[in-house]
Amino acid sequence: MDNNAGHDAAVAGMFGTISRFYDFLNHFLSLGIDRTWRRALALSVKQENGALLLDLAAGTLDVSIALRKQHPDSLVLALDFCPSMLAIGQKKCRNKGITRIVPIVADAKRVPLPDESVDAITIAFGIRNILPRSEAFYEMLRVLRPGGRVSILEFGSGKERIAYGLYNWYLNTLLPRIGHFFSRDKQAYRYLAETITAFPAADAFEAEMRAAGFVNTGYRKLTGGIVCLHTGEKIGPTTESCAQTKWSEGLRQCRKARTSAVCQAPLSGLHA
Ligand SMILES: C[S@@+](CC[C@H](N)C(=O)[O-])C[C@H]1O[C@@H](n2cnc3c(N)ncnc32)[C@H](O)[C@@H]1O
Repeated sequence: MDNNAGHDAAVAGMFGTISRFYDFLNHFLSLGIDRTWRRALALSVKQENGALLLDLAAGTLDVSIALRKQHPDSLVLALDFCPSMLAIGQKKCRNKGITRIVPIVADAKRVPLPDESVDAITIAFGIRNILPRSEAFYEMLRVLRPGGRVSILEFGSGKERIAYGLYNWYLNTLLPRIGHFFSRDKQAYRYLAETITAFPAADAFEAEMRAAGFVNTGYRKLTGGIVCLHTGEKIGPTTESCAQTKWSEGLRQCRKARTSAVCQAPLSGLHA
């Protein structure tokens, strides 16, 4: 029995409730700067021709779309355990004519892909929600090829004073009220502020990544430290891209495990 099953169900349910407002509030509450953060994340992914990229906690697919724009040859597996968030992202892709993003409904702590099957992993504003983080790190290292990179975008710790405390006041007082007003969900944006405050500072998070087994770790603070972009790699020689060899096997396994994973893209389209 998973000790965090209650937490996971509550998180998935909460994102299900706010999914309709999620994109609007993201852009509104960040004054549109969130687009720059996701672009920085996509740029931090090591360029590979025809790479297979895994976007964890993919939500409404903004990161997956940024990855496809920055890495036009790539195929992106977009994993999230909240189907309605992914459904909104899929609609966005259809409207914008964006292809080669494969949604997978699954838990980031139990990724339905084989070992060493992806070239790079991203996760934006997701790791904060996952308990325990060590299980997500374990899965990232398992499915990543040797030499592959994980890029993690997350809010900096709300415990740090930013912009003379103005940001902290915004985070703890104004943001939950605006979030409540638009989404009618009182708890969701209070949860956002609480998890940001509880999240470790950048040095401590980097130490966690190293303890989990990542090498060549580093981070860059964005927008004065409101957000932090962490990177780390899986030890091993930089091997050839997985894309030509293992991704089709990954998708086959993903299809077999239909109870936990839903792959909705035609395989033939993916070979294009
Ligand atoms: C704040 S949203 C971020 C979405 C997207 N990455 C973005 O940049 O907008 C967090 C997402 O993480 C997902 N999530 C949280 N815990 C997860 C887990 N254990 N496995 C899969 N998805 C998870 C939620 O369903 C939600 O869609």
